[in-house]
Amino acid sequence: MHWTSLATLAFVAPSNALIRFGCSQLVVDRLDPLVNPGMEPSPHLHQIIGGNSFNTSMYKEDHDLAKLSTCTSCQPSEDFSNYWTASLFFRARNGTYKRVPQKGNVGFEGQRGGMTVYYMQASLGDYQQKAKVKAFQPGFRMLIGSPTASTKPEADRYPQLTYTCLQDMNTRYPETKDFPSKPCPAGIMVNLRFPTCWNGVDLDSPDHISHMSYPANGTFESQGPCPASHPVRVAQVMYEVIFETKAFNKKTDWPAEGSQPFVWSFGDTTGFGNHGDYVFGWKDDSLQNILDEECYVQCKTMKTQSIEEMNKCSVSRKVNENVGDDDWIEAIPGQKTPMAQE
Ligand SMILES: *[C@@H]1O[C@H](CO)[C@@H](O)[C@H](O)[C@H]1NC(C)=O
Ligand SMILES: *[C@@H]1O[C@H](CO)[C@@H](O)[C@H](O)[C@H]1NC(C)=O
Ligand SMILES: *[C@@H]1O[C@H](CO)[C@@H](O)[C@H](O)[C@H]1NC(C)=O
Repeated sequence: MHWTSLATLAFVAPSNALIRFGCSQLVVDRLDPLVNPGMEPSPHLHQIIGGNSFNTSMYKEDHDLAKLSTCTSCQPSEDFSNYWTASLFFRARNGTYKRVPQKGNVGFEGQRGGMTVYYMQASLGDYQQKAKVKAFQPGFRMLIGSPTASTKPEADRYPQLTYTCLQDMNTRYPETKDFPSKPCPAGIMVNLRFPTCWNGVDLDSPDHISHMSYPANGTFESQGPCPASHPVRVAQVMYEVIFETKAFNKKTDWPAEGSQPFVWSFGDTTGFGNHGDYVFGWKDDSLQNILDEECYVQCKTMKTQSIEEMNKCSVSRKVNENVGDDDWIEAIPGQKTPMAQE
């Protein structure tokens, strides 16, 4: 589907909103309907939030998230989008693994796992949010980052994927491109900011990235212009995923020789492979309506549900395997055994 015919209708109003909301865990499963549709199991484990129509395949041609979902694990009750990242594991000295759980952000302490999502029009600290953006179209999806990035130059191709070592829940600096090298008392926050310039035509692309671009120069935050190839400025989607490392912060449990005990579900111990996926699924024009309101976090047009309701929305795991929530496991699901990795 091409949206060009809709564009003039949908996008006339200037918009002025920044929204931030919590989402509980929908499921932790080895599925990836964007990169590996139909594969059950997909290569690595993900943590997923959003609408409960999430499935092994979700083709843009026939999977209408807002119509097929009956609930969402996100606070906005009209957001049936799916958002996901890899899962994080801790490797014990004896080479076994446990999955690191997630927790809600400040204001969402009662949510079950999950993460925080933002849609913004200008930088986070800009309370006016006057810069014009367009909402996404049904069928739109994208990913950012690469699980195969294993060096800083490779990770730097995706400028705004970072980690914050939380001293407390309000720590926001510094951000690093690789995993924190010391225990983080309040957890590890993974920050993913998606590119904000769209080519205006394609809902997806073969690599799920190239229909999007970063600004031609400067940044989204500095109002850098979009390149001619990707002229449409869209909202910046940002994830904050807080991994609760409390159970893994004892230095005596960390590798004696100083190596990194945290490892992404795709086997990355550097952190440079940080990546995230997004499939748009807001009901009708609810996202556009919110973005058209002048508001900062508290937006009247955003219909919400309670944390209790968010927590009730989940789907069962399709790939039946031990993901290391309760027991120490010999290998991360889908990955080689520790011996074979070394
Ligand atoms: C997932 O897809 C399968 C196969 O198309 C279908 O039978 C099932 O109902 C779908 N599940 C959900 C939750 O939509
Ligand atoms: C491996 O290490 C973990 C964490 O220290 C411990 O709980 C577990 O019992 C150990 N497993 C074996 C087989 O030694
Ligand atoms: C960015 O590009 C625009 C358009 O080409 C130009 O006018 C502007 O000076 C550039 N800004 C910077 C910081 O390079």
